[in-house]
Formats: sequence, structure tokens, C-alpha cells
Amino acid sequence: MGMRLLTLFALLFCFSNDVFAQTEIDKGKAIYSRLCAFCHGIEGAGDGPAAAYLNPPPRDFTLGLYKWKSTKFDEYAPSDDDLARMISGMRSHDSIPGWDGMNATSMPGWSDLLGKEEVSHVAAYLKSLAGYDNAPKSAIDLSGKVKADSASVERGKTLFKDRCAECHGVSGRGDATKKLKDDWGARTWPRDLTEGWTFRAGSAPEDIYARITIGIPGTQMPSFADPASKKMMTDAQRWDVANYAVSLNESEKKPSANPVLKAMKLDGKLPDGPADAKWDKAAISGFYLFPQIFVSSKSYTPSVVSVSVKALYNDGEAAFLIEWDDPTNSMPWDQKALEIADGDLFPDSVAVQFPSGQLKPGDRPYFGMGGPKPVTIWQWKGPESIEEGQRARIIDAKGVKNINQRLADGLLTANGIYDNGRWRVVIKGPLKGSDKDPVFEEGGFTPVAFALWDGSNGDTGGRHLMTGWQWMTFEKQGEGPSYLWPVAAGVIVFCGEMLWLFSARKKD
Ligand code: HEC
Ligand code: HEC
Repeated sequence: MGMRLLTLFALLFCFSNDVFAQTEIDKGKAIYSRLCAFCHGIEGAGDGPAAAYLNPPPRDFTLGLYKWKSTKFDEYAPSDDDLARMISGMRSHDSIPGWDGMNATSMPGWSDLLGKEEVSHVAAYLKSLAGYDNAPKSAIDLSGKVKADSASVERGKTLFKDRCAECHGVSGRGDATKKLKDDWGARTWPRDLTEGWTFRAGSAPEDIYARITIGIPGTQMPSFADPASKKMMTDAQRWDVANYAVSLNESEKKPSANPVLKAMKLDGKLPDGPADAKWDKAAISGFYLFPQIFVSSKSYTPSVVSVSVKALYNDGEAAFLIEWDDPTNSMPWDQKALEIADGDLFPDSVAVQFPSGQLKPGDRPYFGMGGPKPVTIWQWKGPESIEEGQRARIIDAKGVKNINQRLADGLLTANGIYDNGRWRVVIKGPLKGSDKDPVFEEGGFTPVAFALWDGSNGDTGGRHLMTGWQWMTFEKQGEGPSYLWPVAAGVIVFCGEMLWLFSARKKD
């Protein structure tokens, strides 16, 4: 009798445990259908209505293959912490301002909508889709961390050339020599390691060490801890490479939440090319690009995340130095550009857009090439053939269908250099050549927008990347940057008060 009762209790216990797990999964499924299915698909197969327009594509959870995990390379499943971290968002990392999801992807962070428990319910549902159990999975061991001193970074640099450069490029700018696809057939670009804020799973040494040790499942990036691989590295070597990769991050280029371009006034001639030392004095601002999806020829697989811009002006001209990292130079006689190109290869191009000088100050036309309110555009185009060379043109536009190329030969000049995965292009144009030219007034400001074409990614015509209107301010000559004025004003007021206090004291 005692035995039977025990069996009954045991059965009941198992059953209730199962029921408990089942209700967790059901709760998770309800949340999933509401918030996740649009991208990841009703059945979790990565095929929601939005999926066709996204690169990287949303994960297919039925395969159970996860890219951003902390478990060993030969353990397929992620840990519960991994799932919670990726679902909740990467808030605590070098994240893109205003975005707490996985950087530079469409995957949002959900911590503002879902509590911890709800996140664990959705995670339980995701695990059930791949048939994963609830057994705890352990993370890789981080205890062998090597201090990031110059010796470690130097050792890492040598290892990087041998193990990483074949995909990430010798300067780490993601200028691959290979055309890569992931296991799901989507185009992938090795990350630009100078842009730490675009890393999906964090840019701290621990995060990068984890990627090197585990690899990125489903992509070509292998595990460098796998003893079966010829490229295997010791634990200490993997920390050295991680330390080197961290040193490549150019955080000064990270676009801020509300970037403003500060143009500096110069006496005399403005630089014609990117190598001129006059650029050293100008402030740099980064701007995010997004695909043009408003008119036909849309681009859904962007290969460039942001541009960095400097600006100088004098009484008659303005010059822009525009820099961006691009996997190839898109020159048709360059074997690498041809190999990487998706279909036809077009020249790379970049353009700066202003409200036409005919408009009232502060007037903002439609940012997509204007409308009833006109815009003026300065465009640079890379060479289409060796003979033709680089080109520059001024366009006056009142919308995409009302474009007029101005005959302004020689007034606009543009000059670009491509080096190890980076374009540096200078566009120099007139401020007072015609009434349509942009107006730059000392101490004033104007809207400005940028557009970019990556020809090896199929960009041409209306298919390109762009920013919305941004603000550009004009520093007065001889003055420090204008953002110092509030500080200076504070100091003057403070000194004045001290003087007053002192004189008041003396009188007492
Ligand atoms: C707007 C589209 C979109 C929505 C909505 C969305 N995701 Fe994602 N999600 C993505 C994309 C795209 C990726 C792939 C990023 C990559 O490959 O690096 C992704 C990746 C993930 C990953 C990481 C998998 C890995 O390999 O490590 C998890 C987990 C995930 N999503 C869960 C969810 C959950 C849970 C929800 C709903 C609460 C959700 N997603 C909603 C687009 C979306
Ligand atoms: C065979 C090609 C290949 C090699 C070799 C390779 N990577 Fe990668 N790496 C990639 C690809 C592709 C991605 C982007 C994967 C994705 O997001 O889908 C990537 C992404 C990364 C990321 C971004 C992680 C994140 O959170 O977004 C880092 C960091 C990185 N690699 C570092 C390295 C280092 C360091 C080495 C050398 C030890 C290396 N990689 C070797 C192809 C490679």
C-alpha cells in the first residue's frame, strides 16, 4: 500500500511538473505570437511577413542554431542567460543611441515591454521549438583573461593577420576578399572591427573572446578553440587577439543620438583632397544611414552602417571630407570588387544635399530630393573605367522626377581615395556661384543630408543608403567651437559673482 501511494505521488509530481512547464511554454507562445511572429514567423521558422526585407534575416528557431551564445563550440544549445540577454536587449553594452536591441540589426530589445518572467516564458517557448530540454548549460570559462597591455595587443596583432585578416581585412574594416553566405543562404559581411558599436553581442574583451572561442554558429566565422582546426589558438592567444580587436575600435566615429556637423571657417584655400593637414582641425561627426525604401528600387541589404563627416568653409566655397568603410572600391577592373559584387557592379558614390539657396533660412524641403521646395545636391561618383576617372556634378532637384543637372563645370570638384576598406572623399563646391547654392552664414545653421551608393552591393539610381535631414552649424572664424560658449559664459558669470562677493566683503 505504502509503495503504491509513493508511486502515485511520484506520478502526480512528474505530471504537475510537466503541466507547469507546459503552461510556461503556452504563456511564452502567446507573447511570441503577439510580439515576435511578425519577423520570426508564426511557427518560428524565421519566415514572418517582414523577413524578406531584413538583413540579417530573423532567426529560424526550429533549427535551434543560435549565433550569439556563450556555451562551448561543440554545445549546440544556448544557455538560458544567453536567451534572456538577447531577448531583453543589449542596453549595458556599447549600444547604438536610442536602440537597445541587437546593434545594427532589426531585432529590438524587449526589456521595456517584458518582465524577467515573461522573457523566460518566451525563451521556454523558443527552446520547445527546437526540442531543447531545461538542463542548465554552462558558459565558457573567462578566468584566463590576459591584461590588455601593449605586449598582449602586439601579440594579438600578429595572430590577427594570420587568423582573422582573410575575412575581416588587414585593417579589420571588414573588407573581405570573399563573398560569404550564412547557413540560411543570406549574404553576410564580416564585421567592421573599427565600429565596435555595430557588434551584435557586445564589444568588451570578454564578448570578443567569446566569439573567437565559440565561433559564430551558422556563419563562416569558426571556433578558434576547436582542436580539430588548424587555426586553433591557446586560451591566452585568444585573449591576445581579443585585446587587439578591442584596440581597433574607433569610438570617436560612433554617431551620437543627435549629431550636429560643425563646419569650421578657414582663411584661404580649402583642401582639394583627403590627405591635407587642414582637415586635422575640423570636428568629426558620425551619421547613421538607412536604406532608401520610399520609392522604387529599394535596398534591403545595406553593407555600410554609417558615414563620418568633417566640413570646412571660407567666403566662397565649402568642402566636405566624407569617410565610410566599404568592403570594396567597386572599380570594375578590380578583381576583388567583381568577385564580391552581387550581380552587376556599379561605381560607388556619395552626395551631400542642402535646401536650395532660394529658400528662406531654416526652410526644410522633403529630404528625399526635395519637392515643391527645391534642394541642391553635390555628388561624387567613383570611376566607371580607368580612362574616365572620378566625377562630380551639381544637381538642382524638386523631387525625384524633377532633376536638373547644372552646367557648373569646374565649380564642383571631388576627389576620393580608397585604402584598405575605407573611402575618404572630398567634395568641394561653390557657395555663391548661383542663387541656388547653399547659404553658409557665420554663426548660423542649415539642414544637410547625405546619400551613399555601394556599387558592389547593387546600389545605383534610387537604390541607395541615406540619412534624414541633420543640422550643420557654422563656426565663427577665430573662435573656439561654439559649444564652448555656454561653458565660457558660465565661467564669466562665476568670476563676476566672485568679484562682487569680494568687493562686498571688503566694504564690510
Ligand atoms: C523586427 C523584426 C524582429 C522582431 C519583431 C523580433 N526579432 Fe528576434 N531577431 C530579428 C533578427 C533580424 C535577428 C537576427 C540577428 C542576427 O542574425 O544577428 C533576431 C535574433 C533573435 C535572437 C537571437 C538568436 C541568436 O542566434 O542568438 C533571439 C533569441 C530572438 N531574435 C528572439 C526574439 C523574440 C523572443 C522576439 C519577440 C519578443 C523577437 N525576437 C522579435 C528580428 C526580430
Ligand atoms: C571565415 C571568415 C571569418 C574569419 C576567419 C573570422 N571571422 Fe569574425 N566574422 C565573420 C563574419 C561573417 C561575421 C559576421 C557574422 C554575422 O553577424 O552574421 C563575423 C563577426 C565577427 C565579430 C562581431 C561579433 C558581434 O558581436 O557582432 C567579431 C568581434 C569578430 N568577427 C572577430 C573575429 C576575430 C578576432 C577573428 C580572428 C580570430 C575572426 N573574427 C575571424 C567571419 C570571419
